[in-house]
Amino acid sequence: MEEKPLQFVRRGEIVSLTGVAPSRTLLEVLREDLQCTAVKEGCGEGDCGACTVVLAEPAGEGLSYKAINSCIRLAHSVHGMAVWTAQDIGARDGFVTAGPPQGDERPLGGQRPVSAAERGGTVLHPCQQAMVDKHGSQCGFCTPGFVMSLFGMYQNRVLAGQSISRETAQADLSGNLCRCTGYRPIFDAAQAMDTLPRVTVDEAAVLARLRQIAPAPAADYSAPTTLAELLKLRAEQPQAQLVAGCTDVGLWVTKQHRQFAQVLDVTRVEELRQLLRTPELLRIGAAVTLHEAYAALVADRPQLRRFAERFAGLPVRNSGTLGGNVANGSPIGDSMPLLLAMGATLVLASVRGERRLPLDDFYTGYRKNLLAPDEVLAFIEVPRPAPDEHLRVYKISKRQDDDISAVCLALNLQVQSGRIVASRIGAGGVAATPVRALKTEAALTGQPWGRATFEAVASVLAQEFSPISDMRASAAYRSSVLGRLLLRYWAEEQGELQLEALT
Ligand code: FES
Ligand code: FES
Repeated sequence: MEEKPLQFVRRGEIVSLTGVAPSRTLLEVLREDLQCTAVKEGCGEGDCGACTVVLAEPAGEGLSYKAINSCIRLAHSVHGMAVWTAQDIGARDGFVTAGPPQGDERPLGGQRPVSAAERGGTVLHPCQQAMVDKHGSQCGFCTPGFVMSLFGMYQNRVLAGQSISRETAQADLSGNLCRCTGYRPIFDAAQAMDTLPRVTVDEAAVLARLRQIAPAPAADYSAPTTLAELLKLRAEQPQAQLVAGCTDVGLWVTKQHRQFAQVLDVTRVEELRQLLRTPELLRIGAAVTLHEAYAALVADRPQLRRFAERFAGLPVRNSGTLGGNVANGSPIGDSMPLLLAMGATLVLASVRGERRLPLDDFYTGYRKNLLAPDEVLAFIEVPRPAPDEHLRVYKISKRQDDDISAVCLALNLQVQSGRIVASRIGAGGVAATPVRALKTEAALTGQPWGRATFEAVASVLAQEFSPISDMRASAAYRSSVLGRLLLRYWAEEQGELQLEALT
C-alpha cells in the first residue's frame, strides 16, 4: 500500500513528508527534517514555551489560530493544518516571508503581500518589531517562543480589534518563560503590537492550500473525523495509543522515550469537539480543548476564572483537552477535583453503545480507570449551577502560573435556611487518584453554615488523607494546607478575604 504523507501548510506551500513515525514530535520535524531552527527546545515538556508555534485550521469562513507547544505535539496531529514558526512571519521586499533562511524570498506564509513602504521599511512582523522596540530580548533563547505567542495574540485579539491589557498579556504569555529579560518589556511589546502597521494573513490563500490536502494521514496514525469511525477503529485497534491533545502523552515520548506502533487521535472527531448547553447540564465533548472547556465552565461559574487561567500555560490549554485530562487520570490533574465537586458524569462509548458513569466511580487506581479496551471517553456532563451552591476551588503550587498543583481542592456546598444541606469536595495531590473527601462531606452536611462548623471540621479534612511527600510538597504540608483551605473557604464566603487573584 502506498504510504500517505504527512502534509501541512507552511509559508504558503504544502509541506509533504513521508516516513514520519507516529511518535515523532512536531518540534523534531521542524528542527531536524525542515531545518527550522528558530523553533527552540528548552524543557521538552510543555513548561517553558521556547518551542511555541502557531497552528491554524479552517473555522467558518476563515481560520482559527492557536499557539501550541511543538515539543509535545505529535507531528501527525497537524496534518491538514497551517503552521507558522518565528521564521515564517517576517516581511521582506513586499512579501510576508520567513526572510533570512537560505535566501528564500518566495511569497510564503499565506499572508497578504505588504509593501516595504507600507510597512515603514521594516521587514519584521509587528510582534517581532514590538519586541525589538521594547527591548524584549536578551539572550534570545526564549524569544522565538514569545514571538509566536504574541503572533497568536495578534491574530486572535489585535486583528479582532481588541486592545491588549496588561492582564491579557500576562494571561496569554503564561506559558512562556524568560530567564533574563524580565517580563515588563515583553508585556510592553504585547501592548505595543497594535500601534504598528497591520499585517494580515491571506486566509483565502491558506484555505485554498489546505483544501488540496487529502484528509487521511499516515496508516499508523489514525485521526477519524466521526464518532462512528473512531469507535470502529477503537474496536479494531484496542492496543493503539489513544491521544487527545497529547500534553501528557507527549512527555511519555520526550521524557520516557516511548514509541507507539499505532496512534488513535480523537481530536478530529466532530461530535467530540462540541459543547452543548441544556437547562440541566453542560455537555463537553472529550476533544474540546482545555481552553474552550474552561471558558464554558467559567461562563456558568465566573468564580472559576483565575483557576482556569492557572491550568498550565495557554499553549498547553490550546492543545490539551478536558477529555484527555480526565481519561489520563493523573492524581495531580487539576480538572478532576473540580469535576468531582460539581458532580460530573462521564459518557463512555464503544461500538456496543454508550454507558454513563459518575466520575466518582471512574478511577480504580493510579492512572487506572473503568474504560474497556474498546471504549473511549466521549463526553463529560457537568450539572449547571444550583441556586444555593457555594463553589470554590483552590490550587496550591509553588508558582502562580504554569505549574503543577501540590494540592488542589474544590468545595461545593449547598446551603438552605442557614444549614449545609449537601456537600461535594474533590481533592487532588492527596491520594493515588483524584478523590472525594467523603468524611469531610459527611461532617459538614447538616451542620449550621457558620464559622464554628468550619473550625470544627478543618481537622477532619486535614486528617482524611495520607498524602505522600515529593518534590512539590511534604505530606505534612499537604495535610495541613487542606485544613487551612477549609477555613479560607469560609473566610472568602464571608467576604473576609479577597484572595481570588491568588487562587
Ligand atoms: Fe519547553 Fe516545549 S521546549 S515547552
Ligand atoms: Fe534569555 Fe528570555 S531573553 S531567556
